[in-house]
Amino acid sequence: MKVLAINGSPRKGWNTDTLLKKVLEGAASAGAETEMVHLYDLTFSGCVSCLGCKLQKEPRPNRCILRDDLTAVLDKAHEADAVILGSPIYFSEITGEARSFLERFLFQYLNYDDYSKPLSPAKRIGLIFTMNCPESLFEQMGYNALFQRYEGWMRLYFGHCETLICSDTLQAKDYSRYHLGRFDAEAKRLRHETVFPQDCQKAFDLGIRLAQNA
Ligand SMILES: Cc1cc2nc3c(=O)[nH]c(=O)nc-3n(C[C@H](O)[C@H](O)[C@H](O)COP(=O)(O)O)c2cc1C
Repeated sequence: MKVLAINGSPRKGWNTDTLLKKVLEGAASAGAETEMVHLYDLTFSGCVSCLGCKLQKEPRPNRCILRDDLTAVLDKAHEADAVILGSPIYFSEITGEARSFLERFLFQYLNYDDYSKPLSPAKRIGLIFTMNCPESLFEQMGYNALFQRYEGWMRLYFGHCETLICSDTLQAKDYSRYHLGRFDAEAKRLRHETVFPQDCQKAFDLGIRLAQNA
């Protein structure tokens, strides 16, 4: 049983990366083979709309034919029993790298003959979103709809998805070093010490579920 984590944050050792590592720890504790990929270490593009994955030939390609650093990652994701993608929210979306990964991951399986029947293998999917925004502003910011949209795609394509949301994150170790005046540094520190460990536990538990049900 293989669980693959995809880190869509540029910052190693920070919120998203830490939660993904916890997911993999949980999965490993349930006996899974685990691997982490850091998208920002790779050179790749999003889908270039070449339609190579949709060519009229037998057997149908159904796989991305673009060759760059993401090719091996897409192969691993195709083979994995479970994939967990983590991304910070940047300007009310996932990061550009996470989005580029998803374009390539999903488009190869998109079925233009019948949208409701993607050509993807069943697998368990986890999504982790981290963000500055507190939960109280999700509705106003349109974040609930955003998270539901991604979860909906994953359920349609792979038959399963669980989402873990980590809000009001710590953005800097020392707020006094930066122009971050909008934030209450002490409240951020306190939340990081009290709530973030709970999010880490949720991530660990998610890893166990992804591995056990793979
Ligand atoms: C370019 C940029 C844009 C951001 N935009 C948002 C945003 O729209 N909403 C939000 O809640 N947080 C936003 N943030 C904050 C990050 O989502 C937050 O700090 C996140 O937890 C970072 O994840 P990391 O610690 O794994 O890097 C932004 C941060 C950056 C660098």
